[in-house]
Amino acid sequence: MPCILTPDQIAQFERDGYFIARGVFDKSETQLLTEAMASDPQIRDHILVREDGAGGGTRIALWNRAGDSVYGLMARTERMVDTAEALLGGPVYHYQSKLTAKEARTGGAWEWHQDYGYWYYNGCLFPQLVSCMVALDRADRENGCLQFIKGSHLMGRADHVKLTKAQNEIDPKVVAAAQARLETVYAEADPGDVVFFHCNLFHRSDQNRSDKRRWTLIVCYNRVDNDTYTREDDRFFVPLEKVEDGALKAAGLKLAGAENAEHFASKPFVPAVRAAGE
Ligand code: SIN
Ligand code: MN
Repeated sequence: MPCILTPDQIAQFERDGYFIARGVFDKSETQLLTEAMASDPQIRDHILVREDGAGGGTRIALWNRAGDSVYGLMARTERMVDTAEALLGGPVYHYQSKLTAKEARTGGAWEWHQDYGYWYYNGCLFPQLVSCMVALDRADRENGCLQFIKGSHLMGRADHVKLTKAQNEIDPKVVAAAQARLETVYAEADPGDVVFFHCNLFHRSDQNRSDKRRWTLIVCYNRVDNDTYTREDDRFFVPLEKVEDGALKAAGLKLAGAENAEHFASKPFVPAVRAAGE
């Protein structure tokens, strides 16, 4: 399957900074991905709890290479890679994947940030990256779905300030000014939907106080010609071998091997920025 978005949908992404594609993965594919997240020993061994500073915490796992597991193959499917290439306007490589498992009642919040507010510090000179959030559970207002400030990606990279040890946030003054002019929207999604969003789009999500968990997988791609100028971060260009869309079902519940070909991270990267008012 080539790019799954029409020219009009790509134009919406360019205008709004996001586009929600419905039913990109079918029920059995979404179940395979969910089961892999629940049972893969590599995921289990690399879970990090990201505290939100307000009593909540989200279980996350981060990996840099798309391998041969069912979730590595998902990130390599034509429908994902060709779509990322159409959105970014050139060949891409896998930059990072992330499980964000917001559990019922305890799942943590993420404050307003841009992904490029982090990735700029990893050696990406241009904001030519896209995040693709694959919903594994239904994500809605009650269980802390993503929120966006529509069109905020057009403002460029905003200053971030330190919030906690585990997260930075966009300067709240800038967020308030942006919200006064632009619409804030909830990106509600059903299992199998993919939320594509620009790396400069302001986004956040609430704590999960509901009794429904909210698990998602976020796959991020960088344009090949935007390869990191630093080699220290492990997210530099490595060729991405695309696979046919059928590869996911053909793989079944294929988990990662013990040799860590996925390059799971042992800690999240949080750039050292000043606290507000410092
Ligand atoms: C993120 O911004 O990386 C994750 C946000 C979320 O899972 O709600
Ligand atoms: Mn983010």
